[in-house]
Amino acid sequence: MSKVYITTPIYYPNSDPHVGTAYTTIVADFLARYYRQRGKTVFYLTGTDENSVKVEEAAQKLNKPTKQYVDEMASIFREIWQKLNISYDKFIRTTDDYHIQTAQFVFQKLYEKGYIYKSYYEGWYCNSCETFWPSSKLGDEKVCPNIECRKPLTIVKEDNYFFKLSDFQEKLIKYYEQNPDSIFPKTRYNEVLSFIKMGLQDISVSRKNIEWGIKVPFDPNYTIYVWIDALTNYISGIGYPYNFEEEYWQNVYHIMGKDIIRFHAVIWPSILLALGLEPPKKLIVHGWLTTPENKKISKSTGGDIFKLREFISNNPEHMIMGLRYYLLKEGSFGEDIPISVERYVQIYNSDLANNVGNLLSRIVALIQKNLESKVYKKSSLEFIPTLYSQVLKEYNKYVENFEFSKAMDIIIDFSNHLNKKIEENRPWEMKNQKDKLNDLMFELCLGLVGIFTFLYPAIPYSSYQALNQLGLEKILDKASFNVSDLYLDGIESFEIRSRQVLFPAIK
Ligand code: MSP
Repeated sequence: MSKVYITTPIYYPNSDPHVGTAYTTIVADFLARYYRQRGKTVFYLTGTDENSVKVEEAAQKLNKPTKQYVDEMASIFREIWQKLNISYDKFIRTTDDYHIQTAQFVFQKLYEKGYIYKSYYEGWYCNSCETFWPSSKLGDEKVCPNIECRKPLTIVKEDNYFFKLSDFQEKLIKYYEQNPDSIFPKTRYNEVLSFIKMGLQDISVSRKNIEWGIKVPFDPNYTIYVWIDALTNYISGIGYPYNFEEEYWQNVYHIMGKDIIRFHAVIWPSILLALGLEPPKKLIVHGWLTTPENKKISKSTGGDIFKLREFISNNPEHMIMGLRYYLLKEGSFGEDIPISVERYVQIYNSDLANNVGNLLSRIVALIQKNLESKVYKKSSLEFIPTLYSQVLKEYNKYVENFEFSKAMDIIIDFSNHLNKKIEENRPWEMKNQKDKLNDLMFELCLGLVGIFTFLYPAIPYSSYQALNQLGLEKILDKASFNVSDLYLDGIESFEIRSRQVLFPAIK
């Protein structure tokens, strides 16, 4: 299948993006770029979830009309994603007309098919988590049972529209049993399956007398429950219903944090089945970024220790690329990952400044000094083809298993290997053996091309800069560049264009 569809959750724009939301977006970007490099046609969707009570409240606090506020916030998200080199193909906003039409179409269709019915609801609602809580789940204090939230709840007593989630229990069990790879990691898959087996109840899918939101098409006293509206972004973003790009849908990867898995693994596939569509092919679920004391980083709790917006505005590109690299390298994807600015500096210096950056400088300097900035393919290659294909195989295996940290490690090993080749061959003593020096440098340059094409999905801007010094950045432009053919058909020479320190050390 040549098409791949990658999504992030759409974020509530009630405050600036922080390092946690950036994490999901960076992982999704890494995968989008990885698949593009392997010749896939990728559609990467991200955006903002705007029809939420807490977004409206945030606007009111600032005395701004809600629409003006969400317009401003959507621009801030876009700006930050741009600085982080996020290569999304579309930025969806749930206040966009086409999305509103799709959300209403979906609601209407579910109603016509008999999956939505009206009934009385009495219970509690958390504006912050946008979640209905039945009284049975609460203690005396009537605060949100989500331990990360614990905010006071609002009582809801109203006629409401319900979705027949209970109808899908058996279908979902069957689907998940037949598709054991549909959720990564396995622990989350097991969790979802046992949750479904415990029994599914119908859920409320509307709110009464709430102004901000998408109207229920056949009953304007109601708005569509924001999670139903938000989940449909994944199909409105690719043209559902009238211009639906089904091939993307068949190959969708939803990337998200563990906090919202049930919405995606239980409610969303049920809605899709009710519409006559396939459940998402794969849910890729990561843990939380936490403070070193293991507190979730969020707007309300742990605080954004990177102060993302300031970090992005006050630092140059190589440090922003360093942040992308650090988040992919640290910890084990899928589990909670404690992060800190100290660790960021440590990893930036050891892997980027002192390792790959230094390797590039050494090679470029030797070629400038001793070979008048040019190297050619003269004799047959000695060590690079074998080394390259070994690294490629391992690297691909790790990425396909979402082991991003190990994928970064293998690139650093590759770089260590090339540094060792330099130590062993002592090119600075080859001034009078130009051919030998040329051959060694040619292979080392191919090694650099390997390193920076592998690093490209993690640190696009810096990889481009690195290959630009070797006169070969065009390699990264090719939309369907086939990584495995690199050394077989391609490069005949290198001409050094410039020499700049790619990753100045952080003191
Ligand atoms: N609007 C909903 C999602 C609707 S998708 C149909 C929402 N938005 S959110 O702004 O709260 O973003 C939640 C997502 O942000 C999480 O699922 C996760 O991907 C990311 N993260 C937020 N805090 C995070 C961490 N501390 N660590 C890692 N990811 C974090 O829920």
